[in-house]
Amino acid sequence: MNKDRKLIIAGNWKMNKTVGEALDLVNGLKRELANVKEIDLVVAPPFTALSEVSKAILDSNIRLGAQNMSEHNFGAYTGEICAAMLKEFSVRYVILGHSERRQFQQESSALIAKKALAAHAASLKPIVCIGELLEERKANQTERVLETQLRGSLAGLSTEQVEETIIAYEPVWAIGTGLTATAEQAQSAHAFIRQTLVGIVGEATAKRVRIQYGGSVKPNNVRELMSLPDVDGALVGGASLEVRSFSEIVKQSI
Ligand code: PGA
Repeated sequence: MNKDRKLIIAGNWKMNKTVGEALDLVNGLKRELANVKEIDLVVAPPFTALSEVSKAILDSNIRLGAQNMSEHNFGAYTGEICAAMLKEFSVRYVILGHSERRQFQQESSALIAKKALAAHAASLKPIVCIGELLEERKANQTERVLETQLRGSLAGLSTEQVEETIIAYEPVWAIGTGLTATAEQAQSAHAFIRQTLVGIVGEATAKRVRIQYGGSVKPNNVRELMSLPDVDGALVGGASLEVRSFSEIVKQSI
C-alpha cells in the first residue's frame, strides 16, 4: 500500500502471556515476519515479559512497546513503572490511555498528557488511545468526544512531540466485541482526528502524524481498513495473541 506515512501495526497483548508463552509467540512472529520492511512492527507484552522478549527480538525487525507507564520519574509510587525502567529493556513505544485504563483505572486525558510528556522526555514514542462509547456514538457525540480526548491527551506537548506521537482511534464498542467500525465510520473518524490535529499543530505536522485504527482488527478486515486514506496502521488486541493471526494481519496490510 502506497501512503506517505509508513504503516505501524502493534500487538497489544494486554494481561496475557507468561514469559514462556510470550517467547513462543514472539519467536513465531520473528520467523513469519522476518522479511517485512514496509511496515513498522511493534509488540506490547505485559511488563513481566519485557526483559525476555527484548532479548528475543534484538536482531529482528520487531520493536518493543509497553502497555502503560507512570507520569512520574521515580519515587514512592507503589506498583508503578517509570520510563527509565522501560528504557532498560529497549522499549521504544508505550501505549497510553487505552480505554480499559480509562475505564478501570479512571485515567483522565489530563493524566495521559502528563504520561505522554514523560514518555517524550525519555524518547519513548507514545501511542495515545482515544475513542467513543457506544452511547456516545448513538447520541451523535463521537466527534465531540474525540476532540475533547485528543486535545486533553496532547495538552502541553510541543509540535515536534505531537509529530512523534501515534494516535490510536479505538471505538470502545469495537474492542474485543467482534464488531468493527465500517470503512466509512473509520475513515470519517480518522479524517476528523487529522483535521483536529491541524487545529492543534498545523497542517504540515498533522499530515505526518500516524493514526492507527483499533477494535476487532482481524486478517479478514484489515486490508480494507488499511487502504483508507487516513488510517496508518492498526492496534490489535485479541488477534495479536496468535502467531498465525497477527502475521496474517501484517501480510494482508502490505
Ligand atoms: P481487540 O483489542 O483487537 O481485541 O478488539 C484492540 C485493543 O484493545 O487495542
